[in-house]
Amino acid sequence: MKEELLKEFAELFGDGGEILCYFSPGRVNLIGGHTDYNGGHVFPCTLTLGTYAVVRQRRDKKLRLYSKNMSSMGIVESDLSDFTFLPSLGFVNYIKGVIWSFVQKGYPIPFGMDLMIVGNLPNGAGLSSSASLEMAMCLILKEMYHFSDLSLPDLALIAQSAENIYCGVRCGIMDPFTIAMGKKGHAIFLDTSDLSYEYAPLHLEHEKLIVAYSNKERHVGESKYNERRHECETALADLQKLTTISSLSELTMEAFDMVKSAIHDPICRRRARHAVSENQRTIKAVHALKENDLALFGQLMNESHISLRDDYEVTCPELDTLAQAAWEHPGVLGARMTGAGFGGCTVNLVKNEAVDSFIEQVGEKYKKVIGYDADFYVVTTGSGVCRC
Ligand code: GLA
Repeated sequence: MKEELLKEFAELFGDGGEILCYFSPGRVNLIGGHTDYNGGHVFPCTLTLGTYAVVRQRRDKKLRLYSKNMSSMGIVESDLSDFTFLPSLGFVNYIKGVIWSFVQKGYPIPFGMDLMIVGNLPNGAGLSSSASLEMAMCLILKEMYHFSDLSLPDLALIAQSAENIYCGVRCGIMDPFTIAMGKKGHAIFLDTSDLSYEYAPLHLEHEKLIVAYSNKERHVGESKYNERRHECETALADLQKLTTISSLSELTMEAFDMVKSAIHDPICRRRARHAVSENQRTIKAVHALKENDLALFGQLMNESHISLRDDYEVTCPELDTLAQAAWEHPGVLGARMTGAGFGGCTVNLVKNEAVDSFIEQVGEKYKKVIGYDADFYVVTTGSGVCRC
């Protein structure tokens, strides 16, 4: 793969100089949906699918950028000092956003680069193709300019601010953090209130993880993601008139039930109930996994979907159909939507021997109800962002 990419890069931009190749994975979150901006826990893992980036530093300030996935755009030329956000430029904005974020944080970028990227994550599927590209850029810039004081979690924060401020999507820390810190064979139990984390081995000897893509793209920027954040902030502000909490995740379900009437708007109350219950579920699920109780882990995944559907209202007919069809299959331990919602994917824990019939039966039911196909990926965990 690497040799092929280096060859293609040389054909595109000419050879010579030091040409480096990076890989940055996508991620799937097993449980802990919409908790990462509420100070809660998440439990994602990195995939072997992701983004390759091939790069060479330039001696001038030009950026020459090419995405094999958007080959019709050709080589996009820009300049280091041009930070105009152009929605039509797609992947270019993520690259510029990261450069902008480095500069903002006091890490000047003196020279431009030739950069070719190619990804094998389905676009808009909610497997974090944007954070994957952003983290590749972060590691490239750290290594190119020897910013040795920047740790991987620091890079994740830089990527997050690129997304939050430059791209205007107020996403949490889960995606860039996971991609920075991912480890093959493990999921990361991350406490987003202080970024403390623990690797939990995923010993899936008798099960597989299957990602089912609804083929309904979810566009976080255009969706109601920022609205959900706002609703949670409103709920928190109401609760702070009565309590000293600094995030919704500080509450247990029992504590929430005692104070919930302080949240005026019933919609915000339901959003807060999801944030609290999902955080508790995530803690329970990781405990169940450590005890090797995959049946309980799966059941908590199912409950997570129901809460995201009913209290948080971030599912859609496509995701609900995929989850429902999965729950009806006897070889499924658990199934839930993953990522931001409003489209994208479900993640399914399926017994080895049931993989083929799962894909066939869930696929058929989905097509019958929705009218077009879903795509299925039997995924494996991979490492975090790295030079390859
Ligand atoms: C998106 C965001 C994450 C997280 C999830 C929902 O993937 O980028 O920060 O909030 O949605 O869990």
